[in-house]
Amino acid sequence: MTSGPNTPTSKPRILTGDTPTGRLHLGHWVGSVERRVALQDKYDCYFLLANMHAFTTRFDKPADIRQDTIEIVKDWLAAGIDPKKSTIVLQTEVPAIAELTWFFAMLLSFNDVMGNPTLIHELETKGLGDSHSFGFPMYTVGQCADILAFRPVYVPVGEDQAPHIEMCRKAARKFDQLYCNVPNRTEDKDYVQAGGVFPIPEALIGRVGRLPGVGDGKQKMSKSLNNAIFLSDTAKDVQKKINKITTGRQTPTEPGDPTNILFQFVDAFITNEARVAELKDRYARGDNLGDGHVKQELAEAINTLLEPMRARRAEYEKPGGDDVIIDIIKDGVKRANVVAEETLYLAKTAMKLDFGKRLLS
Ligand code: TRP
Repeated sequence: MTSGPNTPTSKPRILTGDTPTGRLHLGHWVGSVERRVALQDKYDCYFLLANMHAFTTRFDKPADIRQDTIEIVKDWLAAGIDPKKSTIVLQTEVPAIAELTWFFAMLLSFNDVMGNPTLIHELETKGLGDSHSFGFPMYTVGQCADILAFRPVYVPVGEDQAPHIEMCRKAARKFDQLYCNVPNRTEDKDYVQAGGVFPIPEALIGRVGRLPGVGDGKQKMSKSLNNAIFLSDTAKDVQKKINKITTGRQTPTEPGDPTNILFQFVDAFITNEARVAELKDRYARGDNLGDGHVKQELAEAINTLLEPMRARRAEYEKPGGDDVIIDIIKDGVKRANVVAEETLYLAKTAMKLDFGKRLLS
């Protein structure tokens, strides 16, 4: 039996999301999106559009954030996320998330937040320095609420998000111990059984933790570093961008390093394992295998992956496509609020804030 969106389901829940800062690229695919597509049947999946978080750095660009939000949903659907199976959650339409953020902000210390390695890295690389808003660091607490509002068992994310998931686990443990009398020696997997409102969710780190960007391989793939291959790129663009990979190798007969940036891409995208082994072997021996040839095979493999995505995306790029997306978002919001409101009610009850149940129409 298949369970549709309105069928109550006892499947364990999953939550993950993206900040709408632009189109999705191959780093997102191998880091998390691929996983999401695969998990849709087995789990009750919630995919969150972190549009509130987009305001932490781009509060002066509301129109861009709106359009990026719509574009990311197109990318998701193109990638194979099925809104009939999975629920799309628009962060700003789920008030329980903002409310839970306040509660979790009290359970985490200032140093937990400011010492978060991903946050520190962002403060450095985004050039925010001392001038970042008060709200910027708060997104990390908000992310705990994004996750816990859905009480999921797993959070599929790229490696860079691991510190955020750790913070979320800390907040969940603390809440359950403090307000639900869960003994502090309880094993993470037993928190709900021991009376906790929140499970201690686990990160599922993607198949490829960190995909380099096209170039010399020093930076990770990122839109802002201008080294990304987008899921919506044309076949020609893919080949052009792959050609930008530089290994420093001079000739096809020079023994090459089969773990270099080019082969990190080969490992990530050429699915025929025997072929990968053969390429590595010849490359390492300098057996007349030029970087150019490897790049061509690589671009073909990537284009084979992206072709069905381009076809699905084209459907939403027709006139009226944005309206279809907005309807999908509205439908997701309704379903998301059922779960998030229930969580908030349970949390408030545990906190002795049970002054009546409210209804979001
Ligand atoms: N911070 C994540 C990113 O930039 C996006 C995100 C927001 C998220 N809320 C989340 C991811 C909750 C997982 C779970 O990629």
